[in-house]
Amino acid sequence: MSTAKISVAKKAISHIEKKLTNNMVLGIGTGSTVNFFINELMLFKNHFKGAVSSSEASKKLLEANGIEVFSLNDVNEIEFYIDGADEVSPDNFLIKGGGGAHTREKIVASASREFICIVDASKMVQRLGTFPLPIEVIPESRSLVARKIVSMGGNPIYRNGFITDQGNQILDVKDLDISEPKELEIYINNIPGVVDNGIFAFNKPGLVLVSD
Ligand code: A5P
Repeated sequence: MSTAKISVAKKAISHIEKKLTNNMVLGIGTGSTVNFFINELMLFKNHFKGAVSSSEASKKLLEANGIEVFSLNDVNEIEFYIDGADEVSPDNFLIKGGGGAHTREKIVASASREFICIVDASKMVQRLGTFPLPIEVIPESRSLVARKIVSMGGNPIYRNGFITDQGNQILDVKDLDISEPKELEIYINNIPGVVDNGIFAFNKPGLVLVSD
């Protein structure tokens, strides 16, 4: 598995390497595949200005590798956003948030010109929904949101002991019908107390790189 993740991390480097410029800021996602990408990116750290990170974990790894990390508030343009995924549909719709970072991941993806998704072949699916859908919720609203999800046919499991970078909680939802990803992404995000869910239908990648 790590061989596949390293191979797709290298593919992403090949895609951006020649396009890096001294004033360019990259968007960096979260997860084990991205960790391999950061390790490869370190070799090019003098070829671009720095990064905006989608999580505190990636921020630490970037800084440990000598890459400067900026707040999104201080950056006008992000050329590339590189991130993994938990599932990728044939239309490049995603489920993300296995690491609980999907809220900031979606924000940084939406702020970037090109979202490059890097996955091993096991993430490619015909239909989204085998991977439980992560939903970040305000702690006080967790049970309320869970009841709404049950009324939609979903089976929410509280990710016990996990706190997001924003201080919130996660429900991992099985058995949802995700045949209409755009509609479901909007519908769930309209439940009061939901911060964001892990469907990336509106902020889907322009390019999905899959390991050989
Ligand atoms: C983080 O919250 C997720 O969205 C990750 O991007 C996703 O879980 C992929 O992680 P791996 O690269 O570890 O499979």
